[in-house]
Amino acid sequence: MPKVLVSDSLSPRAVEIFKARGVEVDVKTGLKPDELAAIIGEYDGLAIRSATKVTKEILDVATNLKVVGRAGIGVDNVDVPYASQKGVVVMNTPFGNAITTAEHAIAMMFALARQIPQANASTHASKWEKSRFMGVELTGKTLGIIGCGNIGSIVATRAIGLRMKVLAFDPFLTPDRAVDLGVEKVELDDLIARADIISLHTPLTDKTRGILDAEAIGRMKKGVRIINCARGGLIDEAALKAALESGHVAGAALDVFEKEPAKDNPLFGLDTVVCTPHLGASTSEAQENVALQVAEQISDFLLTGA
Ligand code: MLT
Repeated sequence: MPKVLVSDSLSPRAVEIFKARGVEVDVKTGLKPDELAAIIGEYDGLAIRSATKVTKEILDVATNLKVVGRAGIGVDNVDVPYASQKGVVVMNTPFGNAITTAEHAIAMMFALARQIPQANASTHASKWEKSRFMGVELTGKTLGIIGCGNIGSIVATRAIGLRMKVLAFDPFLTPDRAVDLGVEKVELDDLIARADIISLHTPLTDKTRGILDAEAIGRMKKGVRIINCARGGLIDEAALKAALESGHVAGAALDVFEKEPAKDNPLFGLDTVVCTPHLGASTSEAQENVALQVAEQISDFLLTGA
């Protein structure tokens, strides 16, 4: 019977599925790297979210490991090239949390447009600052989506429902798909110059790191608002801070940061910045979906080699 370790908090559905499929499963979360290294040799499969770091050191002692399954999309916490070299398959669940993450981006857009977190804090503090919180309407505004894949395309459809105009930059977006979605496929420079609000939905790669750097931000419309529910590192945080302080950027809503957990960040404390602690995928529905999918995929792989 193959044996799987669940080393991050996953919905209990994952354990139920492993058991039902005839896979032995242990749940041990919060392990330190040396604790994981001491036991990983016993397991054929490893199910993770983002906390477990599957490094070279872990892979070197994972002598029986055949598969790492990430309940979620990003596999940034796995050394994928080294895993492949070792013959360990790395899989993710690219669809399970896409709607939830797209909804978080839309929530962030409303939070920015109407300064809801700031107004909430002020009202709780008994200030009743009705004239301080003048917002902007989203209807008729242009949303620029960078990355129009599983998540970006859902953001696009929701934004179109809000009567926004949507521009999409994505080298993989076909003209037909753009027409189906109702978005205008554009080059990045065009999007940057025309969008009132920009939302990032692309993975962090060598090509996308710093895609919104000082130069790109400088070419945006004055008063632009920026949302990042994708990956820290896509935006140059120092450049964003300078642009927020000068008023060139009116606001930013960030769920992800260059360094996470983000206990300290140059953008913290700016009243034009709305932050959440990487909550994009955090709904009970999405967590159940990704747990179920990762458990099915790992079981399929270990039981049938599929
Ligand atoms: C993902 O890659 O799926 C998201 O960043 C959410 C998560 O942290 O699991």
